[in-house]
Amino acid sequence: MKKKYKIKKKVLYSGLIFIGIIFIAIFLSLKIYNNYKYKQSYEYKLIEHGYTLEQAKELEKNSKEKDLNQILKLSRNENIITFLKEKYYITNNLERYLNYQDKNKDTSTKDIVAIVNVNRDFDYYKHDIDSDISKNELLLVNKYYKLKEDFEPINLVNISNKYAYQNNQVISIVNDAFVSMWNAANENGYKLIINSSYRSYKSQDDVYNNLKASKGEKNADKQAARPGYSEHQTGLAIDVFEINNQLTSTFKDSEAYTWLKNNAYLYGFIERYPEDKENITGYAFESWHYRYVGIEVAKIIHDEDITYDEYYAYYIENQANN
Ligand code: DAL
Ligand code: ZN
Repeated sequence: MKKKYKIKKKVLYSGLIFIGIIFIAIFLSLKIYNNYKYKQSYEYKLIEHGYTLEQAKELEKNSKEKDLNQILKLSRNENIITFLKEKYYITNNLERYLNYQDKNKDTSTKDIVAIVNVNRDFDYYKHDIDSDISKNELLLVNKYYKLKEDFEPINLVNISNKYAYQNNQVISIVNDAFVSMWNAANENGYKLIINSSYRSYKSQDDVYNNLKASKGEKNADKQAARPGYSEHQTGLAIDVFEINNQLTSTFKDSEAYTWLKNNAYLYGFIERYPEDKENITGYAFESWHYRYVGIEVAKIIHDEDITYDEYYAYYIENQANN
């Protein structure tokens, strides 16, 4: 009897010990697993990279996986958090933002993002990229994006004398959009007139070289594009004045200009070289130069108060890479 009881007790104890061991094993395995999982997390990797727990959490909150991988490739830099919060932040440009900031400590992060996004951290004419002509009316041409000498737009049409001086041409959708805009301006009492539009590579060469001869290279580069770098070669750009205000020096003070500034986007046109954006566009303020991009895109550019160069970098190139 006593022996049987002893055996039962032994079995019971062994059972309890066995269950205990199982529990401990499960507990330890979970701990090891959680620890392993944590070491895979971005929070752990960021802390290992030198960020505090708080910074790591902040970085994770503001970043996509692609951003975090990029951050881990670069040396620790707290300023990254400020850049990530910028609306037009582009992951692939992060290292360039930081380099630019290193050399320009007084420039705001917002301005650095804009400057780098439009390639202004490279010298003009030393960082040529072929313009992607498959983008049609969203084609970008500036001091970095260049057209080939033989590029000619298709569907060029002559603009009627009612709207333009002689020998002006644009591509046909631009002509239609301009006629709509002309009618709306006319209803408001402004008679718009185009004095320049499509220019071939050769005629742009003449425009630029004449200006260079009279004003010198530095001034010419602020006012006219070198051949291949002008939007006028696309057939999408127009220089517009009002019949009573046709001077480049005073058009900015006219009511017609204010009307265009506030309404051109409704017809698909944008003011291409706005005031105080010289460092982004590469050109001095041109109150008369409008560029057709289509109504949808023109509205975004108008509402967000950005240049086409910034739009293209963020909404077209960056989104194509994502
Ligand atoms: N005036 C503009 C910048 C051009 O020449 O294309
Ligand atoms: Zn122009």
